Amino acid sequence: MNWWESDFATVKRDKLWLGGRKAADLAAEHGTPAYVYGKEAVLARYAYLEGLLAAAAPVEAWLCYAMKANPHPGLLALLRKRGARIDAVSPSEVDAALAAGFPPERILFTGTSVSLADLERVFAIEGLTVNIDAAEQLEVMGRFKRRSWPKRMIRVSVRWNPGLGSGFNPRVITAGRRSSDGTPIKFGVEERKVLGVFERARALDFRPIGLHQHLGSGWIRGDFPTVREAADKMIRKARELKEKGFGLEFLDFGGGFGPRYAKGQGRFPVERYLGHIVRSVAAAGLGLKALAFEPGKFLVGDAGALLLRVEYVKESYGNLFACVNGGTYNTVPRPAIYLQAFHEIVNASRVDGGPKARLTVAGNLCETGDVFGKERLMPVPKTGEILAVLGAGAYCRSMASNFNLREIPKEILV
Ligand code: LLP
Repeated sequence: MNWWESDFATVKRDKLWLGGRKAADLAAEHGTPAYVYGKEAVLARYAYLEGLLAAAAPVEAWLCYAMKANPHPGLLALLRKRGARIDAVSPSEVDAALAAGFPPERILFTGTSVSLADLERVFAIEGLTVNIDAAEQLEVMGRFKRRSWPKRMIRVSVRWNPGLGSGFNPRVITAGRRSSDGTPIKFGVEERKVLGVFERARALDFRPIGLHQHLGSGWIRGDFPTVREAADKMIRKARELKEKGFGLEFLDFGGGFGPRYAKGQGRFPVERYLGHIVRSVAAAGLGLKALAFEPGKFLVGDAGALLLRVEYVKESYGNLFACVNGGTYNTVPRPAIYLQAFHEIVNASRVDGGPKARLTVAGNLCETGDVFGKERLMPVPKTGEILAVLGAGAYCRSMASNFNLREIPKEILV
């Protein structure tokens, strides 16, 4: 069995199947490039997390889908029916969640660099919880509330920055003072200001009910000690807040635990992480109503693939290229944006068959970095064969642009 095989991507007689359909048939039926997402796989990951969190009862476990990962309306509807909540980071995400049927009470809006125009849109939605990213943002919120919604009870939570974070590359570490490449981290309220923000929120007539953190994305095994420490820190902070008169309704630990994207990666021990949090929260006696998590990648990352057609194999200066009919920026931009992003690439018609060589899978954009994978050992494809880029369920369509005026592919839900 190949390391990447799952309930979504499987191999039968050397052919790739996605969500119970032969990948080459899907390509013939719908054309390429195309994204394929598997509903059953998403539901299975949801059920897995739900099962791990059942131990939190009677404290509720809220799974707030980080829809920035993939806001496909079909996936939103699927998760809404299954009982999920939503982590939305822009007013338009909030609107898309409402359109998919999520009631405002199930939406947490976590903005950054929040504008007055953003606030006008989200305050108008009664029942939504607003997650505060900065003491300075709270002042803007307070002025706006006094002017436009003086009577409205608005539930808020505070996104704090616990001083440490973890992620698969410097651009997606979202807590700490600076990222590993030196970039100052813009998110959240620093530790020494947290209590003041709660006090000020109450004084401004908001109802502070939660504490939130999000540490980064794409965790693997090695991230565990850091994120466990940050979780412990948040639980201690909640205890302090309770002692100061701010008993909380929920603690939100954000997302970050991802599927494996590459062969050598150690899987993040999500069961240990969630188990640790459930036990520690129970022991801390916080009187919470709920524990919240915001999985994006975990739910949808490896439940999606991109299908591309090989136009020809090119040789130049000894390099072999599989030239495909899609560009990274328009489809799976992650390898072009993040040096560390890896996506497995599989020949759908001959997963393992035929002579192999090291090929660079090159897209159709005018940019050197437009390669889906570099020098991958794979069966040399023939013109017309279909390649599947795996792990394309999260942060692919949602980050795709029409650079070079290339179109963004269609999406198929199977
Ligand atoms: N909650 C908040 C507040 C977030 O900002 C994020 C992701 C999540 C939850 C979900 O994180 P996940 O479970 O998906 O790791 N574009 C990058 C990922 C950026 C993630 C930013 N925030 C990528 O393609 O890897």
